[in-house]
Amino acid sequence: MTETLADIAHALVAPGKGILAADESSGTIKKRFDSINLVSTEDTRRDYREMLFSATDAMQNYVSGVILYDETIHQKAKTGTTLVDVMRASGAIPGIKVDTGAKPLAGPTARIETITEGLDGLRERLVEYHKLGARFAKWRGVITIADGVPTWNCVKANAHALARYAALCQENGIVPIVEPEILMDGPHSGHDIDECYRVTEWTLRTVFRELYDARVSLEGMILKPNMVIAGQKANAQASAEEVADKTLKCLKATVPASVPGIAFLSGGQSDQIATQHLSLMNAAGPLPWALTFSYGRALQAAALTAWGGTPENVAAGQRAFSHRAKMNSLAALGRWDAAMEKAA
Ligand code: 13P
Repeated sequence: MTETLADIAHALVAPGKGILAADESSGTIKKRFDSINLVSTEDTRRDYREMLFSATDAMQNYVSGVILYDETIHQKAKTGTTLVDVMRASGAIPGIKVDTGAKPLAGPTARIETITEGLDGLRERLVEYHKLGARFAKWRGVITIADGVPTWNCVKANAHALARYAALCQENGIVPIVEPEILMDGPHSGHDIDECYRVTEWTLRTVFRELYDARVSLEGMILKPNMVIAGQKANAQASAEEVADKTLKCLKATVPASVPGIAFLSGGQSDQIATQHLSLMNAAGPLPWALTFSYGRALQAAALTAWGGTPENVAAGQRAFSHRAKMNSLAALGRWDAAMEKAA
């Protein structure tokens, strides 16, 4: 069976399905575990991911693929099966984060701006990851809004790195998730929604220009953008309808229709708001591309709390995960409403 890049990309954004981003680096997962007073060790990280990936209801019905961290793609479940095989048993496609993180961008804005690294040796790593079962990958470029920031240098450098990464993925039979994230949280998040619109449009135009220059096949990729939304520290927060309207307007203006799917990051939105925004956008269709979720925090937060690091709570964690996955599946079809949260 030969699966093309386009086949994989379409499977990732199949109707009512989306992606679980479980690719937290060791530093990030430690922060998440701190919130439930759990020590982060190789074993606790394995137990947590095993709890998620063996949640059959969520994984079979609502999750098309999972983005893994390097450690996780090598790990085995308690039964001895690899975690990759655990998710594959439910039909989910394994994916892998291949960037090595956002580092200060040398120059006058180095205290604020970052460039994502990881291109050196990437070809060889992709060959390895393909052997381990990965059929898609992720690379996240980070753009911050602050006084005089982002600079053109930062937008251009991150877009260029994303395009080089995407071309390498496609060369090796792996679908690239291209993720340029305009941050909505952190110390510099006082911007309003229109500033987010301006920077998102600028960034996406630059990214697609670089993808074109690198001859990346748009049919064999997925875009993972932020929504157009005010920063967390902004005085004025936009309504859900305004976020949905402005995000769609921005994406229609910048993302070619040949891209099969757009899978949003949640970026610090609360679980329910992230679901509501996605549903409003899909209800405003028809759209040129599939529009779905690739959430980390907004899919996992409730499950992490319900699990709490104890074996007795595995089923409770899985129920919480399945519920969020189902709500987001409905949102990907434009059929979610708040009453469905209470009915659960
Ligand atoms: P969040 O949904 O928590 O933003 O994570 C998604 C992701 O993969 C960020 O790179």
